[in-house]
Amino acid sequence: MKSARCLITTLITTLSAALSAALIGYAGHAAAASPSELMASYATAAGPGFTPSAERGRALYSKKISVSDTMPACTACHTDNPRQAGKHVVTGKAVQPMAPGANPERFTDSKKAEKWFRRNCSEVVGRECTPGEKADFIAYLSKE
Ligand code: HEC
Repeated sequence: MKSARCLITTLITTLSAALSAALIGYAGHAAAASPSELMASYATAAGPGFTPSAERGRALYSKKISVSDTMPACTACHTDNPRQAGKHVVTGKAVQPMAPGANPERFTDSKKAEKWFRRNCSEVVGRECTPGEKADFIAYLSKE
């Protein structure tokens, strides 16, 4: 009886170690990306025949939307010039430049990109951005 319990404990310990190793490996793999890889995966998610457009991305970046008075557009915190550092319109905290050309860390972490797309699109646009809009947004910023 005692040895059976011991065996079960060992099994559970081994299994949970293997599981967390797998999870850490997966998270590491899923997060690393380049702007062009991220853009390509959003474009694929947008559906067959979709081509990212820097022009549509520019429009999304600067479009004034009336969902929120304090943050009517992406430019409210990211400024009109994505090569410039911005400032959070509510907290006043510094925001690093959005263009990968001015900030090489941009769009290199898919989890970070997703987190902020979800939060900022919900606040500014009033809904989540579509995969196509995200691909357009990255296409625009990659050219700046
Ligand atoms: C209320 C201020 C605010 C507004 C408005 C805003 N953002 Fe942001 N955004 C931030 C902050 C803060 C960060 C994270 C800090 C940083 O990365 O410098 C961020 C980061 C991001 C990132 C992460 C990019 C990466 O991979 O590093 C994306 C994508 C993004 N914003 C998209 C948008 C879009 C799209 C809009 C407009 C629909 C928008 N943001 C409007 C504050 C804002």
